[in-house]
Amino acid sequence: MYYKKLKAFPDDFLWGASTSAYQAEGAYNEDGKGLSVQDLHHPKDIADFKIASDHYHHFKEDVQMMAELGLKAYRFSIAWTRIIPDGDGKINKAGIDFYNALIDELCAYHIEPVVTMYHFDLPLALHEKGGWANRHTIDAFVRYARILFENFGDRVKYWLTINEQNVMINHPSAMNPGRLPSKKELYQQCHNMFVASAKATLLCHEMIENGKIGPAPNITAIYPETCKPEDIIAADNWESIRCWLYLDMAVYGRYNNLVWSYLEDHMLTPEIEEGDMDLLAQAKPDYLGINYYATATVAGPKNDGTDCQARNGDQQIMIGEEGVYRAANNQYLETTEYGWMIDSIGLRVTLRRIYDRYHMPILITENGIGAKDELAKDGKIHDHYRIDYLQRHFHQAQLAITDGVDLIGYCPWSFMDLVSTHQGYGKRYGFVFIDRDEKNIKQLKRIKKDSFYWYRDIIQNNGL
Ligand code: BG6
Repeated sequence: MYYKKLKAFPDDFLWGASTSAYQAEGAYNEDGKGLSVQDLHHPKDIADFKIASDHYHHFKEDVQMMAELGLKAYRFSIAWTRIIPDGDGKINKAGIDFYNALIDELCAYHIEPVVTMYHFDLPLALHEKGGWANRHTIDAFVRYARILFENFGDRVKYWLTINEQNVMINHPSAMNPGRLPSKKELYQQCHNMFVASAKATLLCHEMIENGKIGPAPNITAIYPETCKPEDIIAADNWESIRCWLYLDMAVYGRYNNLVWSYLEDHMLTPEIEEGDMDLLAQAKPDYLGINYYATATVAGPKNDGTDCQARNGDQQIMIGEEGVYRAANNQYLETTEYGWMIDSIGLRVTLRRIYDRYHMPILITENGIGAKDELAKDGKIHDHYRIDYLQRHFHQAQLAITDGVDLIGYCPWSFMDLVSTHQGYGKRYGFVFIDRDEKNIKQLKRIKKDSFYWYRDIIQNNGL
């Protein structure tokens, strides 16, 4: 639809930027922090999470740069293992102090803290007790939530329960060191995470005045390869399994019917305890956090043993599933150098679909382009490709607002360079360059990229 006039971004639009604790903070074993499943990650050629961008020691300087950028919101995660080193035992005061200091610093600059409670970094000690497959982790998470709300709820009003639960279920290797769980176990983990989020949601409403809480899945529209009805069904299948399962549960508190049939047919249904479904139905989020990177295109399955192609998938690359869908190419879209589709219009499609389904405020909690940014001879980072990428996505976000979508904010990934989940510092997302290599941490100097100045102007003008 071509509009004669676009609606403006709302005056209180949350122009933000995102990070996560284990990818940015470093200080992985300092001041009493316990180990998380991510701390076992010791890749040979790329950076691990031990020092990362050392945000833990540089947070004041980093927040000052956020203020200079003009951020209205900063979305970051709290490391569960800083607060409770073994996940369910003693509280670590130094961890509480660190986040208090960070939140105070943000508030001093009038930057709204948007806090993710759990971003891929389950305490290792809980993992060793069975992780999310064990219902004890639900209780541990709820206790952790209570501690967060008690300590930070006076200043933090925007909460996100679990980052990309759907990625943890569909791409489980990085979160399950030691042994890859079976699909049946994964759907049990998934159910337990649903219950944990629902309990945290209810608790947030009980404990925090004006507290707002929501999930943060990775959602993307799935396109059919052609208008062949079999392709349409496959796109529906995968969109439901990958996306709607998670949002239907968060918003309506029920299993998506198509996904439930799939789980039954594949003998993957989780054990549901008495009271779970009532609780899930009671807990209502206040907004939906959405991580969006790229759409995906799929074709109807052949169901002949070849639907799952032997490609390695990451969170944006579809690999196919026997009898459900096949991964297909989209000839109309470019890809990043890492094979992720670049689809700004897909952002509008995704936002329209989500809003149409749930009619809830949406906060974009991640979106951005990973690239091999390099320091130029003039000492600057000329990331015109990032400016181009974000400009196109912001424009589509504005079109979605004009379509009537209640979009409350946009937090690109990421505020500063951090360890990418698969490519370390070889793939950077930030507005701020962190001068380090995979193994040589140098001085960790912070350098503003060209996109920093561009984004600052966008924020100042409240839009493009
Ligand atoms: C999201 C995650 O899936 O994608 C982030 O929430 C991640 O933690 C981001 O960093 C980008 O992915 P990657 O693999 O390029 O780091």
